[in-house]
Amino acid sequence: MATDWDNASGFVSLESLEQVEIQIVSWCNRECSFCPSGTFPTPKVRMSLETVDRIITELEKIGFSRTIGLHLMCEPLLHNKLPEIIRMFRSRLPRTFIRLESNGDPLNKMERLGHLFDCGLNEILINCYDSAEQWMIRSQKIAALRPDGGAIWFWNQCQRFPVTEKHEWRVVRLRAFYEGGFSLKNWAGLVPSASSDSLQFPLQLSCNRPGSRLHVNYRGEVLVCNMDWKFEVIAGDFHRMGIAELLNAPILRQYRTRLAVKDRDMPLCRACDSGAETGAQPGYPPVDRWVGIRARWLDWERSWMAQSIKKRLRGMMGHR
Ligand SMILES: C[S@@+](CC[C@H](N)C(=O)[O-])C[C@H]1O[C@@H](n2cnc3c(N)ncnc32)[C@H](O)[C@@H]1O
Ligand code: SF4
Ligand code: SF4
Repeated sequence: MATDWDNASGFVSLESLEQVEIQIVSWCNRECSFCPSGTFPTPKVRMSLETVDRIITELEKIGFSRTIGLHLMCEPLLHNKLPEIIRMFRSRLPRTFIRLESNGDPLNKMERLGHLFDCGLNEILINCYDSAEQWMIRSQKIAALRPDGGAIWFWNQCQRFPVTEKHEWRVVRLRAFYEGGFSLKNWAGLVPSASSDSLQFPLQLSCNRPGSRLHVNYRGEVLVCNMDWKFEVIAGDFHRMGIAELLNAPILRQYRTRLAVKDRDMPLCRACDSGAETGAQPGYPPVDRWVGIRARWLDWERSWMAQSIKKRLRGMMGHR
């Protein structure tokens, strides 16, 4: 595996930062068997808007325009100020791709999705953990949504992405988890039940996770790994450090140099199976061509040609 950093020093350039994953609340309402959530006590705390502001201020300094993930180690829809957080990112980092993953439980009203897209969200991946029926009901409700600020692309049922730039997307994906047969990861060693008996730990594998991503917990601290639910390895703190210092904090550089030579004999990595061969992963149900036609219509409506035909028609009819 090629690494994103200088192998000898562990240094990464500011330009190589691809993704910032943020834990906007400290907890989740579920206790999935393959996830560390609920296996140890956690206070229920929401990230403050001051901490959100600190993160954005640092990212503004490097003109960050890549991916913001708001679902790190939590259920993000539990934050009561989620629309405000999304608006802050959208207005101050306008070209970023803002996404989140959710168990969908707090979506008692699907209309909430339309509002999040109107605030500037680009993609939500909703995991359907319970049943095929749950997937079906959710898909019908999403297909029926008519949000204010523009169309919603229902990605699952046309299996492709919109034609516009990513910071303009409004995409919902529903992932099917209910059929068995897939395996999940024992990332950071916190989910031993998800690990294969045949593996010998520590694995002799590299790992890119501490390279091109920053993982920020609800207190504003930078973690080495996105599965460090217990905050065992903290590399820095947005409240005390700038982006350049955080991205090349000594602990991150140390992890990078050792992972580059496939040495995982360190806290978190020692019992982690990320990168190992696994069985089938959760997926997406098959394409429904009728809903696919609706998605094509949405693409067409957004396309440049449609806009220009509309403009001409308006001109011919004497409207502005
Ligand atoms: C930790 S969850 C947080 C977001 C939200 N609560 C959810 O379940 O979608 C983020 C993503 O990690 C996935 N995930 C959780 N535990 C995992 C594991 N042991 N291996 C691989 N992916 C996992 C979830 O399915 C989800 O897509
Ligand atoms: S996978 Fe998501 S929904 Fe399930 S316990 Fe973990 S954080 Fe919660
Ligand atoms: S090898 Fe280390 S950094 Fe990579 S996913 Fe596992 S625990 Fe995280």
